[in-house]
Amino acid sequence: MAADILQTPLDGRNLISRAEAHAQERWPRLLAYIPRMADPHTTSNANSPVQSLLKEDRIFPPTAAQATALGGAWCASMDEYRTRHARSIADPEGFWSEVAQDLDWFTPWSKVLEWNCPDAKWFVDAKTNICHNALDRHVLAGHGHEVGIIWEGEPKRENGTPEVKHLSYGELLEEVCRCSNALKSLGVKKGDVVTLYMGMVPELAIAMLACARIGAAHSVIFGGFPAPAIVDRMLDAKSGVIVTCDGAWRRGQVVPLKKNVDEAIALLSAQNHKVEHCIVLHRTKNQIDWHAGRDHAWHELVGAQSDECDCEPMDSEDLLFLLYTSGSTGKPKGIRHTIGGYMVYTAYTAQQTFSLRAGAGQVYWCTADIGWVTGHSYIVYGILPNRVPSLMYEGAPNFPGDDRFWEMVSRHHVTHFYTAPTAIRAFMKWGDEHPAKHDLSSLKVLGTVGEPINPEAWMWYHQNIGGSKCPIVDTFWQTETGGHVLTPLACTTPTVPGSCTLPFFGIDAAVVDENGVEVPANCGGLLVIRKPWPAMLRGIHGDRARFIETYWSRVKGMYLAGDGARRDERGYFWIMGRIDDVLNVSGHRLGTMEVESALVSHEAVVEAAVVGMPHDIKGTGIAAFVSLGPHATPSDELKAALREHVSGVLGPIAKPDMIRFTQALPKTRSGKIMRRLLRDVAAGRDSKQDTTTLEDLNVLAALRGNEE
Ligand code: WT7
Repeated sequence: MAADILQTPLDGRNLISRAEAHAQERWPRLLAYIPRMADPHTTSNANSPVQSLLKEDRIFPPTAAQATALGGAWCASMDEYRTRHARSIADPEGFWSEVAQDLDWFTPWSKVLEWNCPDAKWFVDAKTNICHNALDRHVLAGHGHEVGIIWEGEPKRENGTPEVKHLSYGELLEEVCRCSNALKSLGVKKGDVVTLYMGMVPELAIAMLACARIGAAHSVIFGGFPAPAIVDRMLDAKSGVIVTCDGAWRRGQVVPLKKNVDEAIALLSAQNHKVEHCIVLHRTKNQIDWHAGRDHAWHELVGAQSDECDCEPMDSEDLLFLLYTSGSTGKPKGIRHTIGGYMVYTAYTAQQTFSLRAGAGQVYWCTADIGWVTGHSYIVYGILPNRVPSLMYEGAPNFPGDDRFWEMVSRHHVTHFYTAPTAIRAFMKWGDEHPAKHDLSSLKVLGTVGEPINPEAWMWYHQNIGGSKCPIVDTFWQTETGGHVLTPLACTTPTVPGSCTLPFFGIDAAVVDENGVEVPANCGGLLVIRKPWPAMLRGIHGDRARFIETYWSRVKGMYLAGDGARRDERGYFWIMGRIDDVLNVSGHRLGTMEVESALVSHEAVVEAAVVGMPHDIKGTGIAAFVSLGPHATPSDELKAALREHVSGVLGPIAKPDMIRFTQALPKTRSGKIMRRLLRDVAAGRDSKQDTTTLEDLNVLAALRGNEE
């Protein structure tokens, strides 16, 4: 039945009613126990790194009404998807040259792709500028007055109204030109790396585009990181110019950005690294130190410049940005992205995945911070070329109230809403009444990114935010992939809660064993991409050996994503978590994600993190950190009930050996659970791990003080 649906054109009425029937069933009911030993592919063997015990059979095909509301589907049917995908793999050069025609190039390419694994060059010899494609192109076509960025600040005025700015493409272009000229006046040249350490203010997007315009690369550092993160990244990038703010608003408090920068610059100068210039945008008006000669106020320096600045014609393979991401060990990796391929791929994925259409009244909101790749690709670079307004919000989702996001969706008539599973689980915990208070009927497409979304959260999102009428695109990708690689297309792909569905055009993804051989359906393995794609990383800055070791060594000739995955009988992908997050319990390898999903399917549980811990008998035991909903109380009875519940869902092998209740889980600023830390807590070790990316150190202290 499920397989039939994929072959069927999307207008079948029975399909809609089936989806509705499913939607009406209340969660939790999602996980059916697969007798683990019955399937030879799910038993433990060397070729099967992870076993899968999850089963989900609800399917939500997009409806004709949904496509109409979005101005029509870019890809009309699954047959068309299949044909185009097959072509994109068989003839990548033909496929991508057609896609790239939709953007402006100053000089055309001599060759679409040059591939010497692991080195790719896309649109060889072509000259372009991504800022031109994001702004100038629209102004030249007469759309200069249309809104490119809508920005909302966190604090509200006394009368309860927020601070909102609507920046047109014309206004953005002028301010970008002024900022470009300001950078030039400080001696910034093509090829330099400019560090941006700011809050979520429009000037951050403006500074990125200003760098791109003059051919400088940017390195955005998330504004929540402390001074040592700035030190490491500026040293690694040899960056001598930084743009910052006096402070950033976060949950009503000022984050002292400039103070952190001063501290970082002092630490850097002790290491003989000179930071020549620091541009400071005054946002929060907190007291700051000022170093005359080095520090420049944005409103004075940028404000004094001409609003005209020619775009530098950039080579397609010139560096666009560095973005640092944490690796499994130590030092963060500076992921390198170049201009041409990244530009084509982010604009195209944004259009196709979200079903974006210029001039159709759409308002797109991605809640990520720009300090994270999601903000780079799907607030700025992929969205602006599509000429759909991109909403940028400065602050926290629960300030001043737990309904801030929903109030904003309704006030700005948001049509596209893109957020992370960790945020969705927080919304669930805060209660259904917050979205219920607001009119969310403008919403047409919902998206998630960042981690596997458990089917519970998917259903909650679908019903409580999407009013059971919006497709959900669960987009799998990475800092390294630059853009979506496994994702539904909003108007085309039938979705299944918990699955990121199928590869995007040009992505030859597979689940393989250590020898690079594809594993059978429903058998866990390593997620790889076997062919180059335009937005793939071009290396780790200054560390060729680590680039090859991390991504290209374990399975020869293929890009290793570092995630475990399986494909179901429909060919849909299910991400099972990072390879390092695999548990080996009594010789059975289990994905932490599945045990977490089983825990969360219990009505008392809102969020769970599962890690391995030393166990006398099993080698590795299962430790679960569980955060409860507002109506549940921690007790030994509840622990026992949860163990039984997991056992009922996944089988006795997956029963947690230890359960600890916690108010919150330790997370990175981008919302990823820091399992490394939890492993130490579970083992009763004092953590020697680097905690600079941890969002709230109190969480860790609380966990440590809560020994069983
Ligand atoms: C890792 C990449 C790409 C922007 C956000 C994170 C996990 C990401 C999904 C998804 C399951 C996902 C993977 C991946 N991840 N999206 N839809 N389903 N897992 O970027 O910090 O580079 O992290 O996030 O584990 O490898 P990142």
